[in-house]
Amino acid sequence: MPTRTRPSLRHALSTPENKHTYVRRLFSVIAPRYDLITVLLSYGQDRRWKRRLVSMARIQPGMPALDLACGTGDIAFGLAAAGARVTGLDITTGMLHLARRRPEAAYLHLRLVAGDMTALPFPDASFPLVTMGYGLRNVPDLPGALAEIHRVLAPGGQMLSLDFNRPRNRAVRSVYLAYLTLVGSALGVILHRDPDTYRYIPESIRRYPGAEAVCTLAGAAGFTQCRWGRVLGGLMAIHSCNKAGELDGAAGQRPGTA
Ligand SMILES: C[S@@+](CC[C@H](N)C(=O)[O-])C[C@H]1O[C@@H](n2cnc3c(N)ncnc32)[C@H](O)[C@@H]1O
Repeated sequence: MPTRTRPSLRHALSTPENKHTYVRRLFSVIAPRYDLITVLLSYGQDRRWKRRLVSMARIQPGMPALDLACGTGDIAFGLAAAGARVTGLDITTGMLHLARRRPEAAYLHLRLVAGDMTALPFPDASFPLVTMGYGLRNVPDLPGALAEIHRVLAPGGQMLSLDFNRPRNRAVRSVYLAYLTLVGSALGVILHRDPDTYRYIPESIRRYPGAEAVCTLAGAAGFTQCRWGRVLGGLMAIHSCNKAGELDGAAGQRPGTA
């Protein structure tokens, strides 16, 4: 009988602790292929969705911004190109390493920090803007991450998050997840000799509460005016949630302090 050397994906995601360990390992392994796989899985659309998110941020020159789960830096560099003073944070040092080596790093300065978005190393009310691309779905403690984001946002600040949605219609969801499982398994075998590598995406979507429920959780974490826009016919979503209060002129310009 063959011996299993890896835990099953279902087991790997069965508890917050297991998910934390699994996600850290996964992104270290896929970091060198991450940009390629994102283009392949989104049919080249991903950069356009990220540009849409950046345009929703209404950046003013010098405005501090925090991009969480920044990965190789697409959103972080997009914010910096629009004039923001950007801090990017990610738990995977391999991703940060790739971000530092991007050509844009020669002329756009980012501060890149290794850290966990469920325990942010920044004081309260540090940033008027917090962004994420595919971040919330990957954390083992979604309410905890939202509470941390709310804490570090300045009063009147905005959180913008792009991620997959979990379609509410059962038939649509089944077809969508079956498609992602098939394509993910094939790419996993081709690129890593491991079908589970990208099957993580549909498995994480299966466990994700979906765009509407993220708004409810954001409200419970203290956000006001949480809304989401459909991307790719609602298979993906961009959330925009605000922290109550007024952004004073100084808060819009103050650099993140950590
Ligand atoms: C799917 S990638 C997204 C990267 C980038 N934001 C983008 O849109 O291309 C998810 C990223 O989340 C990071 N990540 C996962 N869990 C994290 C956590 N708890 N804290 C910070 N980053 C985390 C991973 O290392 C990975 O770089």
